[in-house]
Amino acid sequence: MTGTPEIDWELLRREAVAVMGRAYAPYSKYPVGAAALVSDGRLVTGCNVENASYGLGLCAECGLVSALTASGGGRLVAMVCVDGAGALLMPCGRCRQLLFEHGGPDMLVAADGGPIPVAGLLPHAFGPQDLAATANLAARAEPE
Ligand code: THU
Repeated sequence: MTGTPEIDWELLRREAVAVMGRAYAPYSKYPVGAAALVSDGRLVTGCNVENASYGLGLCAECGLVSALTASGGGRLVAMVCVDGAGALLMPCGRCRQLLFEHGGPDMLVAADGGPIPVAGLLPHAFGPQDLAATANLAARAEPE
């Protein structure tokens, strides 16, 4: 596929609601589902998976990013995340960082007032570009 694929927000929302129904959230009782369009046209989804050791719970977006990588990688273009009622949910801070890594600043996240780019959810983001800058410095500091 060439160019950015068309974003079908309704389809993404339906897929997010469907995968939310498979969430494992016995502790919070707050199921979450996420569905995203990938740069090559694929759809990837994820749901939250909690744990008796509470802090180990995985957000829906973590599962989605795992599915992205496991199914061939690529860049996230747009994502819908929903709660147990099917209402749009804004990603938590950690997940915003995950989305920045795999979608970049222009990736769109569905919100009630219209899609928001990740750059608006995570301004001045730390990312791969910062590591590259430090690596360059380290390389320059290497003795001849
Ligand atoms: N949760 C997500 O899956 N994604 C978010 O962006 C926010 C929170 C999950 C984590 C936990 O299983 C439940 O929602 C309640 O916090």
